[in-house]
Amino acid sequence: MSLDTGTPHSARMYDYYLGGKDWFEADKRTAEQLLQRVPEIRTFARENRAFMRRATHALAGEHGVRQFLDIGTGIPTEPNLHQVAQRVAPECRVLYVDNDPLVIEFADALLRGTPEGRTAYLEADVRHDDLWSHRPRIAEVLDLDKPVALSLVALMHFITEEDGPHELLSRLLEPLAPGSFLVLSHTTYDFDDGAARDAVNSLYGEHGINTAPRSRAAVAAFFEGLELLDPGVVVGPRWRPDGPNQLPDEQAGFYAGVARKG
Ligand SMILES: C[S@@+](CC[C@H](N)C(=O)[O-])C[C@H]1O[C@@H](n2cnc3c(N)ncnc32)[C@H](O)[C@@H]1O
Repeated sequence: MSLDTGTPHSARMYDYYLGGKDWFEADKRTAEQLLQRVPEIRTFARENRAFMRRATHALAGEHGVRQFLDIGTGIPTEPNLHQVAQRVAPECRVLYVDNDPLVIEFADALLRGTPEGRTAYLEADVRHDDLWSHRPRIAEVLDLDKPVALSLVALMHFITEEDGPHELLSRLLEPLAPGSFLVLSHTTYDFDDGAARDAVNSLYGEHGINTAPRSRAAVAAFFEGLELLDPGVVVGPRWRPDGPNQLPDEQAGFYAGVARKG
């Protein structure tokens, strides 16, 4: 896919929220408009990264996971997933997947892992591409006979009902060995008085970016058939916080959970 710099893209807008430098004017313009109406988006982005770090650390540390499949990787932001995992165990192997051609431009940062481990990048749109059709490429990095952590961090709210999110998730989980994990975070309007919904619908929507924030029940439904780790599906900052969580739920605005495939 070629790089369209005149149209805002979710990965680059997200980089802007995080204070990164890898966005174009069109991304900044739309992100600024959104931040004026929904300033909590910046907190969401930071807290979401923090959840990714805690979940990855827990899986590599407590659960001994050594393989990670991260879909919807985003533009690199340190520490990236492989850095978190490889700090726990240098032999961790990570395959990154995203559909934004800009992410590949920065893949260098994603591919600089430990010599003992492996990191690789695959460009794919999981709505339209069958990820497992890239199996030979995937097999260079991940041994599907062993557990893999499937990381869908802030991805599924870009998969609308029309895209068949449950079917997509089943397809992604199906080939993974027992003992694999699902790590998922997802925006919600559960704490919204309508302002965020209106702003996101108009600003993302007018640029053709479809979004589907979901209720807690709908997010929990993604974990059906899997064994949820404690504390279950909770507002992101409440998932095993490093210290006391001071943030009101409505300011984080997303749910998160980790579960094991039996
Ligand atoms: C909000 S960012 C999340 C980045 C990172 N996972 C994190 O949480 O910090 C969402 C990412 O998902 C990617 N994305 C959105 N829809 C996608 C799709 N259908 N297939 C692959 N990647 C997608 C975007 O390009 C973007 O990089």
